[in-house]
Amino acid sequence: MIWQGVIRAYAPFLPVTGKTPIVTLYEGNTILLSASHLSARLRINLYLKFEGQNPTGSFKDRGMTVAVSKALENKARAVMCASTGNTSASAAALAARAGIKCVVLVPDGYIALGKLAQALIYGAEVIAIQGNFDAALQLVRKITQEHSLTLVNSLNPHRIEGQKTAAFEICDQLGFAPDYLALPVGNAGNITAYWKGFKEYASAGRANQTPRMLGFQAAGAAPIVRGEVVPEPQTVATAIRIGNPASWQGARQALQESKGRIEMVTDEEIVAAYQLVAREEGLFVEPASAAALAGVIKLANQDFFPPASQVVCVMTGHGLKDPDTTLQTCHLQPTVVPAREERILSILEKINVL
Ligand code: F0G
Repeated sequence: MIWQGVIRAYAPFLPVTGKTPIVTLYEGNTILLSASHLSARLRINLYLKFEGQNPTGSFKDRGMTVAVSKALENKARAVMCASTGNTSASAAALAARAGIKCVVLVPDGYIALGKLAQALIYGAEVIAIQGNFDAALQLVRKITQEHSLTLVNSLNPHRIEGQKTAAFEICDQLGFAPDYLALPVGNAGNITAYWKGFKEYASAGRANQTPRMLGFQAAGAAPIVRGEVVPEPQTVATAIRIGNPASWQGARQALQESKGRIEMVTDEEIVAAYQLVAREEGLFVEPASAAALAGVIKLANQDFFPPASQVVCVMTGHGLKDPDTTLQTCHLQPTVVPAREERILSILEKINVL
């Protein structure tokens, strides 16, 4: 049977019934790539779960299919969210499928261009506020409490339910649960969702163990690591530029119960990992995703992982969403020459490929 999205694949684990109208883009079923070069370099068995392969280019589609399906079941006329970009793209796309309105609040000037273009073309009402994500979320929480719009940030438990399917897929793809699961942490919904998914799969007898959860925040936006709200978060990884995560408690529980760790990585470490995964594994991810890999590299260099550990690193979003950051932060540009053979040959000579 062809893949028809995470609700149909994992219905017994999800809050749906025969009456729930399934709104889907056939999200999920993303690749789990064996990262052979990085594995050798880090002396672990590293796999990359490439969530950039989802229909809107990030993991958000998994939770949004459930949240929007339930919103439609409950006769919602409109959904609303705050976003650093990916949630808004996903909400806008699934609301379009459902035929309901979508309103998104994003931080003006701090959202990747591709994500902004997505929300706009899917037909959402896009409001760019002169403030950060935390301010946007505060406004959206208040407005959705006082009016009839349905909140589709991960405070909506249906989002977490859908996102936990990524943990199921990893166990199904590997044939076992990994020893470690590494992911970037922003609003902390995803770490909460993965942990719930791994626990449920193990209880259902469909996984042999639960992994230790490893969360990574950007150093300029690391409230959980620092143990306090960061009023003015800053990082090149705009997706996780969050100073007061809504699911802080969920993250804390995941870390405690799994004997996990949360650490921070600098923007320099993020940019280095961002280039490394593209050049060694052929995977173009967005900077926030690279934060998780930067964290795994850092821990591996401290000999944190026992030899032959099975480590899955979640690559949460596609690199094509944010090409401006690629060119700017990595200082990359093409070599421009006249259209003459000798000029091309002289370059080929210089890079030793003749
Ligand atoms: N990676 C990417 C690419 C993201 O877009 C996000 C969050 C995260 C990681 C962190 O996940 O918030 O569950 O801890 N993006 C949200 C958004 C905030 O609005 O798109 P989290």
